[in-house]
Amino acid sequence: MVTRGWIPMAMIVAVAFTCGVSNVHCQQPLAPALYVFGASTVDAGNNKILRNEEKVRSFPYGVDLKDPTLFARASNGLTYADFIAEHLGLPLPPPVLSFKDAESRSKVLTGMNYASSASGILNHTGLISGKYLSFSQQIDLFERTVKEDLPKQIPTDLKLHLEESIILISIAENDYVLGYFLNGTISPQLDLNSYTRLLIQSFAASIERMVDLGAKRFVVSGMPPIGCSSFFLEQNQGKCKKHVFKQCCKTDRFGNCILGLKPCKNRDKYLLFDKHHITQIYLKYIADGCFNGSGTCLPCNIAELCRK
Ligand SMILES: *[C@@H]1O[C@H](CO)[C@@H](O)[C@H](O)[C@H]1NC(C)=O
Ligand SMILES: *[C@@H]1O[C@H](CO)[C@@H](O)[C@H](O)[C@H]1NC(C)=O
Ligand SMILES: *[C@@H]1O[C@H](CO)[C@@H](O)[C@H](O)[C@H]1NC(C)=O
Repeated sequence: MVTRGWIPMAMIVAVAFTCGVSNVHCQQPLAPALYVFGASTVDAGNNKILRNEEKVRSFPYGVDLKDPTLFARASNGLTYADFIAEHLGLPLPPPVLSFKDAESRSKVLTGMNYASSASGILNHTGLISGKYLSFSQQIDLFERTVKEDLPKQIPTDLKLHLEESIILISIAENDYVLGYFLNGTISPQLDLNSYTRLLIQSFAASIERMVDLGAKRFVVSGMPPIGCSSFFLEQNQGKCKKHVFKQCCKTDRFGNCILGLKPCKNRDKYLLFDKHHITQIYLKYIADGCFNGSGTCLPCNIAELCRK
């Protein structure tokens, strides 16, 4: 499988980014590592590996990925977690499932991607759509990283490594899209407010688990305005005051791109790639704002979070 190529690749990216690209100065990474959790918005290939299907997220997904060793993401290019990694001066965190054994996994010290399409805050959120790593399983894998993998390479400074690392989480959309609105049978007895309270409780418990493992700096994505997605509007479920956005690729009834079909040409002019996922150019815009702008990520941006 493609997994063998990962580690050398990750190294090359690291070198290119910390020293090569700008050629102006050789920068130290702003954090020792980036650990990524969540759903398709930040999945870098775990689901593709888990479902063992060539077709998962194949063309037109990833159409603008320049590096052929990268797994296609749920967009035309990189995810916003990838852009944050670049800004931090770190290699793109590889999908945790791309490693065959503990030895190769434990060599990765600059972060890992545990995200899995279809997952949500609740364990059963993605059941409707096939295999996935639930948020709780993602944290199990992080626990393995912290307790088994990292200590092999960072025997003494592990506490500091974890405290200074960035934990990026992008989750919850599927709890509404898949778990609540599409499949009300999962939580039929709850009204929306009670369901949201359940999500918050469960999310808080997950964060506490990560804090207990030593994590300290969290970046958590908010909910996008899913009522404005053409997916929900077409089902008369969405309410949207302002814009309705058209997507770049031709989509199936679930709002995913129909695989194999050519996407739109001027992708940088579209906000949405399929009916749920944003194009690379807007993901970069969000990542830039969150990294060192004001007002995108609150109460402070990631550059400030790194200095705390
Ligand atoms: C999710 O599953 C894990 C075990 O896989 C369990 O420990 C945890 O309590 C579950 N969480 C919820 C909210 O059911
Ligand atoms: C909704 O979720 C339940 C529980 O996972 C599953 O058995 C059922 O098939 C789903 N319904 C639809 C319409 O997919
Ligand atoms: C924000 O970061 C980008 C990329 O690292 C950099 O080019 C830009 O100058 C930074 N802007 C500010 C205001 O620091």
